Amino acid sequence: MAIQLGDVAPDFTADTTQGPVSFHAWKGDSWAVLFSHPKDFTPVCTTELGAVAALKPEFEKRNTKVMGLSVDPVESHRQWESDIKDVTGNAVNFPMIGDPESKVAKLYGMIHPNANDTLTVRSVFVVGPDHKVKLTLTYPASTGRNFQEILRVIDSLQLTAKYAVATPADWKDGQDVIITNGVSDEDAKTRFPRGFEAKKPYLRVTPQPNH
Ligand code: BEZ
Repeated sequence: MAIQLGDVAPDFTADTTQGPVSFHAWKGDSWAVLFSHPKDFTPVCTTELGAVAALKPEFEKRNTKVMGLSVDPVESHRQWESDIKDVTGNAVNFPMIGDPESKVAKLYGMIHPNANDTLTVRSVFVVGPDHKVKLTLTYPASTGRNFQEILRVIDSLQLTAKYAVATPADWKDGQDVIITNGVSDEDAKTRFPRGFEAKKPYLRVTPQPNH
């Protein structure tokens, strides 16, 4: 069965461009993003890996480690890294799993046989400090991902892990948030001292508590 939200992210050991890794031990109590790309030395993937490298400081600010994967071997990833640097200006600064036997790809359901029976699709798993899966995303090979969106979701996840809030459509860090429906109006007054606006009884917005 596919990995679902709330599942413990399966542990594994794998070879990476930064040496052998045991996933849970590598991750520790940080957040993590595990993402796959279909194939080395391909155009969209080259832009994606450079984009993730450029965002490493943003992931670090969020206490989030990043790891890539494809079914190409580690040696191929290493050779490809210089192209990524040439094209995007960014040196790959995170481990990439070489998974030529598709061990991790199969464990995480990253191969969708009706799309392609050997290559991984563009999967993303965001994993919390408790090792549980907080987000899954699947994109086709032809569409490069928006990694700013992954950061935005991590911001939302980290906020909602701390406060009784949810985040509305297109929310960005710093904008108003939604008080969850389990919180009574009375309770909301103490939890959210800057007050709230009830647009509907079930839709109460308040300034982002930690901003
Ligand atoms: C790409 O990254 O451009 C790509 C990779 C695999 C299949 C199609 C496109």
